[in-house]
Amino acid sequence: MAFANVHMLPQVQPPAPAARPTEETAPSPPQSPTVRVRGFSRRFGDTEVLRDLDLDIAPGEFVALLGASGSGKTTLLRTLAGLDPADPEAVRAPANRAVVFQDARLLPWKRVWRNVALGLAGLDAADRARAALAEVGLEHRMDAWPATLSGGEAQRAALARALVREPRLLLLDEPFAAVDALTRIRMHGLVLALWRAHAPAVLLVTHDVDEAITLADRVLVLEKGRIAAEERIDLARPRDGGPAFQALRRRLLNRLGVDPGAPPPSPAQSSPPEAELLAYPTGEIL
Ligand SMILES: Nc1ncnc2c1ncn2[C@@H]1O[C@H](COP(=O)(O)OP(=O)(O)O)[C@@H](O)[C@H]1O
Ligand SMILES: [Mg+2]
Repeated sequence: MAFANVHMLPQVQPPAPAARPTEETAPSPPQSPTVRVRGFSRRFGDTEVLRDLDLDIAPGEFVALLGASGSGKTTLLRTLAGLDPADPEAVRAPANRAVVFQDARLLPWKRVWRNVALGLAGLDAADRARAALAEVGLEHRMDAWPATLSGGEAQRAALARALVREPRLLLLDEPFAAVDALTRIRMHGLVLALWRAHAPAVLLVTHDVDEAITLADRVLVLEKGRIAAEERIDLARPRDGGPAFQALRRRLLNRLGVDPGAPPPSPAQSSPPEAELLAYPTGEIL
């Protein structure tokens, strides 16, 4: 299996074809990208966080975004979510998009299914919420109060709420950062199953190189305000951590300035503060 080396990107990346390893269809004509960013800059005070950034995400493509803390990942994600201002000439993203943040909250005074149904129009809102909860294995908790959910259950409710209106773009900001390793592995499988079933374009922000390689069609590295490197992941899923996986891992860690041979940081340094992973508070498709 051959991989492109990590490399500096040209100014404009062509849209990547939507990779769907389970489908065996004839090549389709190129589609316009779901996300198209050209020359986007964002500054806070004197600091230019995003600088003349270009990015395309193809329909149905699963992209992971890595970068050091403070490199602007959340800023980019919020821009694509429409939560922060952007020139529409520079940033194009579909109106039908949904976000799951690590540190957002389910509304505690609404039962789980009502959180999922929030803002849904139509008499079938409850049925759709129930179906979405069933998809994430949470139908039995639909009448529960959010405070009684485990962290992993709350995450699944967040995913159900994000997917219930079939977004064309699903934005995930470190959604698994606060859960234990076993729950994280289960969540990876669930996210891939939901991605296959609903086929949104996905942008997953993560600081976890293994997670990025496990899930994504393409891994990007954000550095100095731009997409500074990319790796296309051609490995069949599920990905087994074999030699090709390890080679990619080494390249990406090197790119991030981490010594792949060094022991992992102690939990005290690496764990985020205890926080339940919950959905974007309004649950709206933005
Ligand atoms: N609303 C804001 N006001 C001022 N500075 C901000 C704001 N949001 C983000 N920043 C700054 O922009 C930089 C990038 O932040 P962020 O996008 O959250 O990084 P990341 O998600 O990669 O850790 C950081 O230095 C952060 O402090
Ligand atoms: Mg962030």
